[in-house]
Amino acid sequence: MQHARWPVIHLLGAGSLGLVIAAGIHRVAPLHLIRRPGHWPAVLDLELVGDDSALTCRLPQSGADQLSEPVTHLILCTKSYDALAALDALGQRLDPGAKLLLMQNGMGSQARVLQRFPQARISAATTTEGAYRTAPHRVVHAARGITRIGALNQSDFDWVSLFRQAGYQTEPVDDIRWHLADKLRVNALINPLTAIHRCLNGELLDRPALRQALEQLGAEADTLLEAEGFRFPTTAARQAAAVARSTARNRSSMLQDVTAGRRIEAADITGYLLDIAQRRGLPAPCHQALYARLRQLDSARKPDQTGSG
Ligand SMILES: NC(=O)c1ccc[n+]([C@@H]2O[C@H](COP(=O)([O-])OP(=O)(O)OC[C@H]3O[C@@H](n4cnc5c(N)ncnc54)[C@H](OP(=O)(O)O)[C@@H]3O)[C@@H](O)[C@H]2O)c1
Repeated sequence: MQHARWPVIHLLGAGSLGLVIAAGIHRVAPLHLIRRPGHWPAVLDLELVGDDSALTCRLPQSGADQLSEPVTHLILCTKSYDALAALDALGQRLDPGAKLLLMQNGMGSQARVLQRFPQARISAATTTEGAYRTAPHRVVHAARGITRIGALNQSDFDWVSLFRQAGYQTEPVDDIRWHLADKLRVNALINPLTAIHRCLNGELLDRPALRQALEQLGAEADTLLEAEGFRFPTTAARQAAAVARSTARNRSSMLQDVTAGRRIEAADITGYLLDIAQRRGLPAPCHQALYARLRQLDSARKPDQTGSG
């Protein structure tokens, strides 16, 4: 173990992605999982299942209310809708100048965290790593991908080197907001359509009505994101079609959440586009209709199914 260089890294959000990241980082840095308030066993015996191997590791953990040291370096891996509340729950245990790395999909939660914690040094990441949990202590690292990290304010901590040492292909980026928006425009097309129509990603290309919906949603997303100052080399529809083709047999994360009765992450994806539309007085009828359907799906969940996968 080569812990000398790194401070204690806390990770909040011990779910699918968080546990995969934790398993890598704990090999190179002192890592501590922050769980929901309460008493937890002192370690989580995690099983990490990869392509052709499985390994186990012992990750120190405690409830947010049981932490024995201030949190100075934190990776946040909750869903976007939980991000702010999870940080708030740390209270004074979160050092005011803490270095934070936000790993949420979508846009919106990052701005809320920046506003709430103005002294924190905040970076954000997008990642194409893929993971899902089959039990609270077992996570499948389903896809190896690229993680892009960039500062949202005056962040000065070298998250990129930490992630690289931990074994994740990682790139530093100058404009992380652009990368978040680039991912959002694909997610805003593929996720809601596959969740509502309960179909695989590839079916968006095979079924003419869905292909048409993809085009219409893409055109609206292009206009809205351009109004917000984002420029992309391809249209959203073309980019989403390429992703749908290369992941044709996959079930999107939103489809998986809907099927499992879990809350969906729509507010910071489709909701973000609708916020732009409202602020700028631009029409977005297709995304609006889609959002209404998503909210219906979300409110049809059974009240006890709020957990994660
Ligand atoms: N999974 C992937 O492959 C993947 C890939 C790229 C990006 N992402 C993004 O990464 C983020 C996390 O996704 P995920 O799939 O890892 O979600 P997840 O499996 O639902 O994990 C989120 C974890 O956060 C925990 N949490 C929420 N509020 C908390 C709090 N106040 N205190 C302590 N823990 C709290 C949840 O605990 P409970 O279990 O108790 O609710 C859950 O374990 C999302 O924005 C997602 O879009 C995920």
